[in-house]
Amino acid sequence: MFVNVIVTTSCRERTLRKKERIWFSLSENIVDIERQTKPKMLVGALLICLSVIPSCVFPQECGLRKIRNASGGRVKRIVGGTQSSQGKWPWQAALFFKGRHYCSGAVISSTWILTAAHCFSPFTSHKPTDWTSVLGDHHLKERDERFEQRRKILNITIHENYKSMWFEGIYDTPPMNDVAILKVHKQLVFNNYVQPLCLPRPGDVFAPNEECYVAGWGHTQWNGTQPDILRESKVRIVSREVCNQEKSYNGTIHGTAMCAGFPQGGIDACEYDSGGPLVCKKCGRHYAAGLVSWGEKCALPNKYGVYANLTVLTPWITGKISTSEQGNGVLRG
Ligand code: ARG
Repeated sequence: MFVNVIVTTSCRERTLRKKERIWFSLSENIVDIERQTKPKMLVGALLICLSVIPSCVFPQECGLRKIRNASGGRVKRIVGGTQSSQGKWPWQAALFFKGRHYCSGAVISSTWILTAAHCFSPFTSHKPTDWTSVLGDHHLKERDERFEQRRKILNITIHENYKSMWFEGIYDTPPMNDVAILKVHKQLVFNNYVQPLCLPRPGDVFAPNEECYVAGWGHTQWNGTQPDILRESKVRIVSREVCNQEKSYNGTIHGTAMCAGFPQGGIDACEYDSGGPLVCKKCGRHYAAGLVSWGEKCALPNKYGVYANLTVLTPWITGKISTSEQGNGVLRG
């Protein structure tokens, strides 16, 4: 009975809509089965529930799109992508360096934004006052107070072991630990246009071939121009093995990086998309599987997009934030 209560509770805790009914009926079945005292079936149902449910238990709200029929656009192909619609990627942050759009980021709580460490390079600066973030942005050049929340950056924390080979004169190797967290000066207000993205939980797997999305205001082709309106692309997770093949990145993809894209190329993130999340849906929630980090030019065949691997880097992120917030549990995911 004790176990039953735990299982029923954990099954009820997840907020997923489609699968909800399945788990509700599963948990109810467990009660029924118990009444009928069929211990073998109870154990079977329990095992199914325990093996699947932990990945669907959410302590807090994150990764939910509030605008139900936020549609993808058809116009403007952008490195194989399409124009997005307002509110479709409510965790997408636009980061401005001295007023110029430079990188993207991902909202993970009302005060913290995730981005790529390499956004803070000798070409820019590590000075928080040089940076601003806009949440709920869509038209980069238009100010629309109905959607946008503008925030100053209070501090920038870059991964201590971030290393860019580029600055060492090695151009064919992606940066290591390409992650940074930004604290905003004033809490964000979550609404239809601004929402936090979930972080992967330990053990979450974003498997090869899984469909994920990347959005940004980056170049529409290598050496191209920046669009004014947010665009999005669907990309597929690529295994480290495939990404490390000779014709791809030839063994340079290390553990803190991951790849996504297509062998034939044509669809990819590009310059100025950096720091934006690679978003994968699990159990009805959107997760940050990675952050745009690197690539050889953009959308070339076998030259997949390389992302900071958040499955590996999340403990660093949560560690930094909980030290800063003294364990207030502000994170979702
Ligand atoms: N480093 C680039 C930036 O700063 C992102 C490159 C992503 N490239 C790619 N082919 N996926 O915006």
